[in-house]
Amino acid sequence: MNNNAIGVFDSGLGGLTCLKELNKLIPNENIIYFGDTARIPYGTRSRETIIEYANQDIAFVKKHNVKLIIAACGTVSSVLGSGKISDGDIPFTGVLLPAAQTACSITKNGKIGVIGTAATIKSGSYGKAIRGIRPDISVIGNSCPLFVPLVENGFTERNNPVTKLVVEQYLAPIKKEGVDTLILGCTHYPIIRDVIADYMGENVTIISSGEEVAKYAYNLLMRKEMLSDRKENGKNIYYTSDSVELFEENAHAFLGDSINGEVHKVGIDELISAEI
Ligand code: DGL
Repeated sequence: MNNNAIGVFDSGLGGLTCLKELNKLIPNENIIYFGDTARIPYGTRSRETIIEYANQDIAFVKKHNVKLIIAACGTVSSVLGSGKISDGDIPFTGVLLPAAQTACSITKNGKIGVIGTAATIKSGSYGKAIRGIRPDISVIGNSCPLFVPLVENGFTERNNPVTKLVVEQYLAPIKKEGVDTLILGCTHYPIIRDVIADYMGENVTIISSGEEVAKYAYNLLMRKEMLSDRKENGKNIYYTSDSVELFEENAHAFLGDSINGEVHKVGIDELISAEI
């Protein structure tokens, strides 16, 4: 048993898709969430910059005495790989393995689509993770650089003509290959899941990497006997590197509800000085 908080971070708000699932699965856990909203997007940056930011994010989250760190960001997970935390003393997981495991267990025809940011797709990490589990599977990937700005700017309704057009543009090559499973490799994408699902059709199973990592974290903590024994609901505490007001306003789309915890601002200086 361990009553320390679970630390979750993302380049912005996408990781809230993981937090929401954690709240559902293990409501008695405390969660520290950090969204680097001042420096989003990560997905268009160089590998070096993503690693630098990720190390600062990890160091910041670690300062809160957490028992597990979750990189609820497809970009960070892809660039860092699994288990890449400098001093390795706290369990760490990204979204890659959890999403890859679920996709491999679901696919019937052995064709899995993966969409993510430019950095995620360029890294080829999802393909490696999937083939590490099932070498027979074909993986068809495509980067969708306009999805994050669409989501962050509220172009999220099922019938939004702009979003529908962009979805078609990015997903056509994947649909053409006849995949039966599609990994949303970026934690922002579940917000436009309906538009994606409508385009892909009912025979394609959509996997949210944020939800999968939450389930994975739950199982991991259970296996290690590190779940909380708190009887009452836990607390969420949020940190953002940009405006608290904007964070609260935009979080609604990801949580499907108003924000349920305090939100604090973290200066970039504080992040830089936290670096491992
Ligand atoms: N949530 C991030 C991810 O999962 C996407 C946003 C970004 O580009 O930073 O990759």
